[in-house]
Amino acid sequence: MGKSIGLALVLFLSSPLCFLLSMAQAPIPAHYDGFAYGGASPWEGSVLVEAFLDPMCSDSRDSWSPLMQTLEHYSPHMSLIVHPFPLPYHENAFVACRALHIANMLNASTTFPLLEFFFEHQERWSNKSNTRYIQSVYNR
Ligand SMILES: *[C@@H]1O[C@H](CO)[C@@H](O)[C@H](O)[C@H]1NC(C)=O
Ligand SMILES: *[C@@H]1O[C@H](CO)[C@@H](O)[C@H](O)[C@H]1NC(C)=O
Repeated sequence: MGKSIGLALVLFLSSPLCFLLSMAQAPIPAHYDGFAYGGASPWEGSVLVEAFLDPMCSDSRDSWSPLMQTLEHYSPHMSLIVHPFPLPYHENAFVACRALHIANMLNASTTFPLLEFFFEHQERWSNKSNTRYIQSVYNR
C-alpha cells in the first residue's frame, strides 16, 4: 500500500501536469522585497523588524513615530525593512505604494521622506465616504 502511494507520487511529480502546475505558481522574486531603512544592510542588526505599512492607513501612520523612536533607541542592534502594503479599502493606497517604488528606483534616499510626506498629508487623499466604507468593512 505504502509502495503504491509512493510510486503514484513519483509518477505524479514526474508528470507534465506537475510541471505545468509548478509553472503556474508565482516565481521567487530576484530581490528581497521592501525598503531597508537608513541605507545600511538590514542583516547587520541583531534584530530585524519588518513593517508592512500602508501609506494611506492611519494605523500605519500612528505606528511610524514609535517605530522610529525604537529604531533610534536600539540602533545599531536593530534594523528595519518597510514593505509597502496597500490595503484595498484605502483610497489611493496602491498609487502611493507605486510612488514609493518609483522614488526608490530613482533615488533610494527619497523613499522614506516620501513615506513620511504621505503620512503627514494623509487626509488629502482620503475622504469621509472612504472612511464610512472602511467602517462598514470593520463592522462585518
Ligand atoms: C538623492 O536624493 C538626495 C536627497 O534628496 C539628494 O541629496 C541627492 O543628491 C540625490 N541623488 C541623486 C543622484 O540625485
Ligand atoms: C471621495 O473620494 C471619491 C474618489 O476620489 C469621490 O468619488 C467622492 O466624491 C469623494 N467623496 C467626498 C464626500 O468627498
